[in-house]
Amino acid sequence: MSCRTQLPSWQALTTASEQLKTQHLKSLFEQDVTRFEQFSRQIPGLLFDFSKQLIDTDTFTQLVKLAEECDLAQWRDKLFAGEKINITEDRAVLHVALRNRGNTPIYVDGENVMDQVNSELEKMKVFSHKVRSGDWLGYTGKAVKDVVAIGVGGSNLGPQMVTEALSAYADDTLNVHYVSNVDGVQLAQVLDKVCPETTLFVISSKTFTTSETMTNARSAVTWFLNAAQNEAEIAKHFVAVSTNLEKTRAFGISDENVFTMWDWVGGRFSLWSAIGLPIALYLGYDKFEAILEGAYEVDEHFKNASFDQNIPLIMALLSVWNTSFLGYQSQAILPYDQALHMLPAYLQQGEMESNGKHVTFAGQTVPYTTVPLIWGMTGINGQHAFYQCLHQGNVIVPADFIASLKPQRDVAKHHDILLSNFFAQTEALMAGVNEQQVRADLSAKGKSEAEIERLLPHKIHEGNRPTTSMILDEVDAKAVGRLIALYEHKIFCQGIILEVCSFDQWGVELGKGLASAIEAELTQDGVTHPHDSSTAGLIAYYKQNR
Ligand code: F6P
Repeated sequence: MSCRTQLPSWQALTTASEQLKTQHLKSLFEQDVTRFEQFSRQIPGLLFDFSKQLIDTDTFTQLVKLAEECDLAQWRDKLFAGEKINITEDRAVLHVALRNRGNTPIYVDGENVMDQVNSELEKMKVFSHKVRSGDWLGYTGKAVKDVVAIGVGGSNLGPQMVTEALSAYADDTLNVHYVSNVDGVQLAQVLDKVCPETTLFVISSKTFTTSETMTNARSAVTWFLNAAQNEAEIAKHFVAVSTNLEKTRAFGISDENVFTMWDWVGGRFSLWSAIGLPIALYLGYDKFEAILEGAYEVDEHFKNASFDQNIPLIMALLSVWNTSFLGYQSQAILPYDQALHMLPAYLQQGEMESNGKHVTFAGQTVPYTTVPLIWGMTGINGQHAFYQCLHQGNVIVPADFIASLKPQRDVAKHHDILLSNFFAQTEALMAGVNEQQVRADLSAKGKSEAEIERLLPHKIHEGNRPTTSMILDEVDAKAVGRLIALYEHKIFCQGIILEVCSFDQWGVELGKGLASAIEAELTQDGVTHPHDSSTAGLIAYYKQNR
């Protein structure tokens, strides 16, 4: 059993949760007009308001105590010092080294990793400049026009999410296309749009063994050679990002075209490494560096701010409070900014692959729910899809609302209209609409008493739905760096408080191996394996009818 539940703060919070479940956020706001001042924080470029979470002052104090009793400060020091806190793989967890703009030394196994980090960043800088300036030439002497980035999971989601978020700042030097799915349709659709003479492929895979990525990469080579007719030309059109030089060589990519990363960079925390190469190619290296700078600012905040002011820690404590104490099993991510439309997908991997675990550091089953289900989409589209359930469903879904002061592109009054929705939704989710208000509204509309009685239950909104609001200055490169780093440190703190190892992914590793045996049954004659009747029936149906 986890010792977390034995901590005095955990026990105090269990009692507090029973009491707070009987409270309504609306009355907490009525009783205390200073809630916003008490429960909001600011760092440069960001306002973080958690006053619409179902907490009071005592609970917040106990949550901060929980972090102290979990030795969070010591764990944070271990993270930044490069200690091997990925305990099941015996690895350091050093995405912070990748954006360590202060360049303070960080040692792993006696070696200062900053030397490697800086030299790889320099290689990215030189390469991205060479490609963008037109100095890197393809096999017919033409400059690159399109980059096709092939990778999946952590080797895709970060770069693609950032590319989408910052496309307003791109010039027309290069187009970037992402291919992550082994469904050949995605690759084929991208290849239909590009020309072999002017396309650069970036094959991103930490392990260089992921079947989906390797399959896509091999098909891309076949497509390219169909036109180039000479294997020697591959060097001009394929580069790789990987830790596995043996595999990249075996694939046919020469060492000078390989950008490296290290085992202490977790896939879902890797966009700051050479995995971010497509971002640098698309936006220019200076913008990539601005993303690193934004993240570094948050690293410094996370390292230095006291617990009660520490935004990523507060985010983690609220998630633990909502999930493990109040029993809310999912969390929505709702950007009110089109640029952040891929953020929910990115955070699904970030949070659920990291903390979707069921045992403690010592391998004992935890007695509480760990990570909530993370989901969402842009708020406005969500409003016309699933918000009905957020307002009146009998599940409560805490949500992060994210908006910006300034739009990337100002179009008439659009931004005010967008933001009025942002404010209205969190207010409505918090306050709801009570019986008295519904009655008054219906009678003002001239409804009969009988009609009012009939409609009443349908029109009551209980409210008391917790939300956090984040307002960025503007979705630019620095802001994106800040935002991602906030969530990364949240994930780290959540893992420590829940006592789960956030940096492995054994469940995903299982999935990586599962399909290969069946693949042989589908592609080779006479190969069969024993299966349950459902799986055997499905495979037989597919083989007979494909
Ligand atoms: O999606 C699961 C995962 O194991 C991630 O952790 C990783 O980012 C991704 O696969 C891709 O792995 P690789 O970079 O080795 O191809």
